[in-house]
Amino acid sequence: MTRLIKIEDMNMDSSELDRLLLDPAQVLSANGTVAFPTETVYGLGANALSEEAVFKIYEAKGRPSDNPLIVHISKIAQLNELVLDIKPYALELMSAFWPGPITFVFRKNALVPSKVTGGLDTVAIRMPDHVIALRLIELSGVPVAAPSANLSGKPSPTKAKHVIEDLMGKVDFIIEGPDAQVGLESTVLDVTGDIPVILRPGKITVEMIAGVVGSCLVDPAITEGDVEGLAPRSPGMKYKHYAPEAEVEVVIGEASKIILAFEKAVDSAIEQNDRLGIMGFEEDLLVLEKILQTKYDLKDIKKHVFLCSHGSVKNMEEFARQLFQNLRRCDEAKCGKIIIRGVSEAGIGHAIMNRLKKAASGKVTRI
Ligand code: TXA
Ligand code: MG
Repeated sequence: MTRLIKIEDMNMDSSELDRLLLDPAQVLSANGTVAFPTETVYGLGANALSEEAVFKIYEAKGRPSDNPLIVHISKIAQLNELVLDIKPYALELMSAFWPGPITFVFRKNALVPSKVTGGLDTVAIRMPDHVIALRLIELSGVPVAAPSANLSGKPSPTKAKHVIEDLMGKVDFIIEGPDAQVGLESTVLDVTGDIPVILRPGKITVEMIAGVVGSCLVDPAITEGDVEGLAPRSPGMKYKHYAPEAEVEVVIGEASKIILAFEKAVDSAIEQNDRLGIMGFEEDLLVLEKILQTKYDLKDIKKHVFLCSHGSVKNMEEFARQLFQNLRRCDEAKCGKIIIRGVSEAGIGHAIMNRLKKAASGKVTRI
């Protein structure tokens, strides 16, 4: 049975928060599973030092067990029992970005079960920037291994209701908190070498990292896609992640060309009696709606077209925040196909395009 608890007010009195978190924290210390909100996406947590507890995560998610987990901590002091050596530049990055949406990969300490790290000799660690997550970890008294709280192969959950849809009945506890503010999973950064290497792009960008420590590389497997011989060093990146049920196509180009591509896709959806999901900026969708209303009946548009806005073209963070929930909404709306306007890979656009390419299995068209 899954117990649910709602904590929506992030400014509540700390003693009231502790009272609410007591039960889920006890579940974690007793090697049970708890889904909880973070600033990136919801996580499914268990005691990282217990093989038995970690096994329950893989089972609930249906996740391949060679895909390692991120261990979440609430205090820097917890690193001592988890990692072997910390480079001076990694310390600088931790003080610049923690708590926050970045995960560091260190050489692991013998205490960390190999079930957590998928057999690797490194371990990924993150301190989330979220009052519920931090306090839950602290009260549990253990480091908390937590992948995203979705069924394996589904988009990561950014709302409590996504977690309930995927994991109700499969985990011990779900904390229903506020919507995730970042909306994309953390940047994963390898800090075992002389120069940091991004293994998964996120809100903390290559420019931001280089801005603190002078240089930062990106794992070529991310940029080159599935070039043969380039196995991603972050094992999770090789799975078909973030994928909705529908066939996805990503289009990149000027607004006018994008709107024309959307219009053509609608024409063929109506012709083939299909249902099309369209994800674009609100500015694109306003123009498109006007065009469609001159060509089709409202009821035909409603039947065949499902419009999802990823916010204003001026706000890339909003696009990041909306992306996974829009993919889920298109699935719920039973779209057979989804066409999505992509963006340039600058700043957070790098992470957005990384997730979009996965959702589209690489199908990106420049028009
Ligand atoms: O924002 C996030 O990171 C969320 C929240 C819950 O914190 N968690 C998350 O976990 O996205 P997950 O398990 O869905 O993704 C973990 C990623 C995977 O791509 C995995 O392969 C990589 O981190 N990873 C974990 N340990 C690693 C290691 N030792 N070396 C390289 N990559 C690692
Ligand atoms: Mg995940």
